[in-house]
Amino acid sequence: MKIFWTALVCLSTFFQTAHAQEFSTVFKAAQKYLVLPVKNGAAKHNVELWIDGEKERYLNIELAEGEPDWLAYLDISAWKGQDIEFRIDKWKGNFTVKQSDEDKNALPLYKEKLRGQFHFSPKRGWTNDPNGMVYFNGEYHLFFQHNPYGREWGNMTWGHAVSKDMLHWKEIGDALHPDKFGTMFSGSAVVDSFNTSGLGKGAMVMFFTGAGSWGQGLAWSNDGRTFKKLDRTVVHRINKDNRDPKVIWHEPTKKWVMVLYVEREKEQHSMQFLTSPDLKNWTKSSVVPGGIGNDRYLFECPEFFELPVEGHPSEKKWILIAANSEYAIGTFDGITFKPEIERLNGQHGRDFYASQTFNNEPKGRRIEIGWWRTHTNKEDMNFNQAMSIPLELKLVRTAQGLRLTRTPVKELESIREKTLTVKPTRLKEGGANPLSGIHAELLEIRTTIEPGKAKEITLDIHGLPVVYDVSKQQLQINGVNANAPLVNGKLDLILYVDRIGVELFTADGLLFMPVNVNIDTSKQTLSLSVKGGDAQLKKMTVYALKSTW
Ligand code: FRU
Repeated sequence: MKIFWTALVCLSTFFQTAHAQEFSTVFKAAQKYLVLPVKNGAAKHNVELWIDGEKERYLNIELAEGEPDWLAYLDISAWKGQDIEFRIDKWKGNFTVKQSDEDKNALPLYKEKLRGQFHFSPKRGWTNDPNGMVYFNGEYHLFFQHNPYGREWGNMTWGHAVSKDMLHWKEIGDALHPDKFGTMFSGSAVVDSFNTSGLGKGAMVMFFTGAGSWGQGLAWSNDGRTFKKLDRTVVHRINKDNRDPKVIWHEPTKKWVMVLYVEREKEQHSMQFLTSPDLKNWTKSSVVPGGIGNDRYLFECPEFFELPVEGHPSEKKWILIAANSEYAIGTFDGITFKPEIERLNGQHGRDFYASQTFNNEPKGRRIEIGWWRTHTNKEDMNFNQAMSIPLELKLVRTAQGLRLTRTPVKELESIREKTLTVKPTRLKEGGANPLSGIHAELLEIRTTIEPGKAKEITLDIHGLPVVYDVSKQQLQINGVNANAPLVNGKLDLILYVDRIGVELFTADGLLFMPVNVNIDTSKQTLSLSVKGGDAQLKKMTVYALKSTW
C-alpha cells in the first residue's frame, strides 16, 4: 500500500509538474499573423490554438527560447477580434505573443543563397510532395506538403501556390490544415465540371489522407482561394497504411476513379482502385500488386493517366506511376488496370520523388512536377526542399517497346534571357575551351556531340563536371551514373542548371537524369574538354536564364 501510495503521490506530482509546465495565455486576434520564433534544432514543443472551445490549430515546433533563427507566420485572420487561447507544452517561463500584418523574412525573399531560381520552393519551412495539381479558373494550382513552422518534415499542411505558366509561382497561404483526422498527407484535386458532387459547378474538389485516421478526406473550393472540408472521411481505412489518393475522371464510364496506395499483409505494396459517381461515395473496384518491403515498385503516391502513342493518336495506353517513378503501361476499362509492361524506370537521377501531373491541363498535355530532395537545410536558410521543373510526358514506341519520355515544358523558353551560340568545332585533348567566353549563373544548355575517338567528354558547369564515358556510354554527375547510349553515334544533351542541381535530358527525353547538388553558381565558368582522342562539337546553344521569382 505504502509503495502504491508513494507511486501515486509521485505520479500526481509528475502530472502537476507536467501541467505546471504547460504555458497558456489568451490574446485577441488583431493582425493577420501570429508570429512564431523558430530556432533550428531546438527542443520541440506542442503548440495549440483554441478558439471557442475548439482546437483549431496544433503543431510541433522548435520554438526559440532566445534569439530566433527565423520567424514562422501562422495566419489568424479568420478569427480577427476573437479571443485565442495559445498553449505550449513543457514550456518554462513566459512567452510574449507577437502579431504582425506582414510576413517578413530576415533574408531578402527568393534571393537566398540556396534558393533555386526557377524551381518552386516554399517561402518558409519544408516541402515534400506536390499535391492537388490542377488547372482551375485560368490558373495552375500547386499544393504541396508543407511544414510552415520548421525546416524539416512535420506538421503536414497543404501549402498553396498559383501560376499562369507553371514557372512563376505565387505562394498564397496554406489551404488545408491538420484537423481531428490527423495531419494532411498527400493527395490530388479535380475540377467537378458537371457538379456530380453537388459542391458547385466547376468546383475544385481535393482528396487527401488524414494521417491519424488513415481515411481519405474531401475538401473543396469554389474560388480557388478559400477551402472547406467535409466533416468525415469519404474512404475509410482499408488495410494498414492507406494514403495519397489520386482522383481522375474516366470519360467512357462517366465515373470518377481513385487510385490509392494500400499496404497489404507482409509489406505487400499495392494500388487500390475505386470508383464513384459523385466524388463522395466510393466503391472498391480492383487492386494492382507492387513490390514487397524494400522493393518499392508501386509504393505510395500513385499517378494514373492515359496517353496516345506518339504518331498514332488513336492508339492509347494507361500509365500507372508510383513515388519512385517506376511505372507500368497497360489497359484500363474503368474498373481494372491490366499492366502489359511493368517495372519500367522513369528516371535515372537522384532524389526525384512523388511526382504528380496536372488534372485538367488546358492544352491536354500531361505535365509532371516532382519533389526534388535538395540540400537546402543549410546555413541560415529558412526554407528547405524544392520541386522539379515542369516536364511534359509522352508515350513513344521504341525498339524495346512503349516508353514514357520526359522533356522540359515549352513555357521554359520564356525565361531565356540571352542566347549564346557556340560554333561547331573539333574538340582536341588539351585544346582551347570553346565555352571560355560564357559567364552566366542560371543555364539551359542544348548540345549535340559526336564523341568519335574520344574516350571521355567533360562539360564542366561552374565546377561541377558532367562526364560522358564513351566506352561505357555512360553519363556521370556527382556520383550518379546513367546509361546513355549514343544515337547514330551522337550524344544529344539538354541541361537545366540552377543553384540546387542539374536536370539533364537525352535521347529525346527517354533519359531524364535529375541530380540534386548545390552548385556554386558564383563561379560562372563553363568548359568543354575531351580525353583520349578527338570529338566533334556539332551544335551548342547556351541560354542564360532569368529567375522566375
Ligand atoms: C511521400 C509521402 C507520402 C505521404 C507524404 C507525407 O513522400 O510519404 O506517402 O502522403 O509523403 O508527407
